[in-house]
Amino acid sequence: MLELKALTKRFPVTGKHRKQTGQTSLTAVDGLSLQVSGGRIYGLLGANGAGKTTTLRMVATMLTPSEGTATVDGCDIITRADEVRRKTGLLFGGDVGLYDRLTAYENIQYFARLNDVPDEVSSARIHELAEQFRFTEHLQKAAGKLSKGTRQKVSFARAIIHDPQLMLFDEPTLGLDVTAKKEAEDFILHCRDKGKTIVLSDHTLSVVERLCDRIGILGKGKLLGEGTIDELTRQHECKSLEEVFFKLAEENAAL
Ligand SMILES: Nc1ncnc2c1ncn2[C@@H]1O[C@H](COP(=O)(O)OP(=O)(O)OP(=O)(O)O)[C@@H](O)[C@H]1O
Ligand SMILES: [Mg+2]
Repeated sequence: MLELKALTKRFPVTGKHRKQTGQTSLTAVDGLSLQVSGGRIYGLLGANGAGKTTTLRMVATMLTPSEGTATVDGCDIITRADEVRRKTGLLFGGDVGLYDRLTAYENIQYFARLNDVPDEVSSARIHELAEQFRFTEHLQKAAGKLSKGTRQKVSFARAIIHDPQLMLFDEPTLGLDVTAKKEAEDFILHCRDKGKTIVLSDHTLSVVERLCDRIGILGKGKLLGEGTIDELTRQHECKSLEEVFFKLAEENAAL
């Protein structure tokens, strides 16, 4: 179970922008509160700069909140960051940050070691994940020589090699071809069925519609609307999630 409690992040504004606007800080995430239970996928939707990645990075303990906090299975992200890290897997889409000179296998094993997973445990799991994601034949190739889709699959495996309870996927299908996208989606659903707590951010509404149980629409760091697709469309008197998204974005822009 993941619980965000008035989670807030302000970044300092410096240089030219500060001079021009007189602004000293920018609130990227603004008092965000929400809950996600095990076996559920929560979708974060929002325009560029809405605060999705910043939220996920705070939960993954890569950024310290300015105010508020979050808990992962009761562990506070600020006071029990080490435990939270062990319970959490984070995947960024697009630039996947593998070490090009290491093989796919070594990339995943390196991450396993960082998370205190013994080699004999990680070895079995790497082969299991490679089979599931169909990249066994690429395990011994240098990551720099792999196609984008295969690199993304390796990154998936790397993010969850320590079998985390909480999985954070930031635009996981970005840049993947149709088949790889489908495999990534199936894999996320498989993790849900295993009872994992999942938060997913994606700009493709159809991906969010297919995968997510609940959806939160973010604007300027605030939760503008939240619920199942049925709840959101009913509450906002819209015919589709897309309509709700544009309606809330328009209302938020006017504020
Ligand atoms: N390290 C940083 N320093 C200063 N400002 C930052 C930093 N990281 C993010 N921001 C700002 O915080 C706001 C939220 O950014 P964030 O990356 O969380 O948005 P996002 O919803 O993930 O957007 P996108 O859909 O483009 O990925 C933006 O205005 C961004 O410029
Ligand atoms: Mg982002």
